[in-house]
Amino acid sequence: MNGWQHRHIIDLASFSSEDYAAVLELAERFRSLPVTGARKLPALQGRLVATLFFEPSTRTRSSFELAAKRLSADVMSFSPSSSSLSKGESVLDTARTYVAMGADVLVVRHRSTAVPEQLARDLDAAGERTVVLNGGDGLHSHPSQGLLDLFTLARHFAPDHPSPEALQGKRIAIVGDILHSRVARSNLWALTACGADVVLCGPPSLLPDDFSAFVESPPPGQSFDPVAQRGTIRVERKLERALPGVDAVMTLRLQKERMGQQLLTSLSRYHRDYGLSHDRLKLCGQLVPVLHPGPVNRGVEMTSALLDDLSICLVEEQVRNGVPTRMALLYLMAAAESAAEPSLVSRSS
Ligand code: CP
Repeated sequence: MNGWQHRHIIDLASFSSEDYAAVLELAERFRSLPVTGARKLPALQGRLVATLFFEPSTRTRSSFELAAKRLSADVMSFSPSSSSLSKGESVLDTARTYVAMGADVLVVRHRSTAVPEQLARDLDAAGERTVVLNGGDGLHSHPSQGLLDLFTLARHFAPDHPSPEALQGKRIAIVGDILHSRVARSNLWALTACGADVVLCGPPSLLPDDFSAFVESPPPGQSFDPVAQRGTIRVERKLERALPGVDAVMTLRLQKERMGQQLLTSLSRYHRDYGLSHDRLKLCGQLVPVLHPGPVNRGVEMTSALLDDLSICLVEEQVRNGVPTRMALLYLMAAAESAAEPSLVSRSS
């Protein structure tokens, strides 16, 4: 855990191989610890975590709140519809209100790209010690989802030792609405950093050609790449070309709320061309796991039969892994702030 440099967590572009290893190692430890019910870890005792979700969420918000509680933090959540936003209060003033109440961590989701980063800058400029964790901003980034997906894949490929090396040389297909997906962008940084080769597949309206150059080395705004060697990215238009030989398939929700124009002729045509089913997966040439960040449009991104087949579909496993992954992030942020590493010994509350 030494060497953790991230005060705020906004995206994964600056994550090093050691950072991924630290998150996965801690997530695996937290996953196997008996911290359910009354048993908790004292690591964040006395700390206050506020979840400021200006956009709807089921998984990310609940998962962060549960993760914080399992580390003994106090948790405050915020509901935009019943907040003073409706009286014209700004996002920054809302955040500063929670900081004034003593929040140590703000987990922020917003429909506009860069809101979490701007909040982090404003808090730093004001000399506040509160840290910001991006819970998903616009099309930009969803770092905790990228990390829990990485953890899920690493556990699948190497159940006894889920580390970044488990992804080395693996081929992962990401299918669907990549243009509107912050999850895809975070996964591209994480998977290539761990040496996986990514095949993107979707229609041109949802997957521009230049996504093959999405990951830059060094990453934007950095003088060097914190990762020694990254995997590759390839763009394909047809599942028949994308799926053969892959080790896992991730499909993405069609983000109708972010589509400003008619980008698809019809959902049934999309399902015909890009929907996953047991039959379609035969193109892979081997039995491979299917991931989806959720929520799923049943019968669009994949058939209901595939979604409910837990021997192939890891959607519930991803949700399960979200809690220890977010515990790892909260722990690392707290450890970076403390003179001594917070305790990992569990206690009964
Ligand atoms: N995967 C994800 O971000 O889900 P929620 O929108 O439910 O948080």
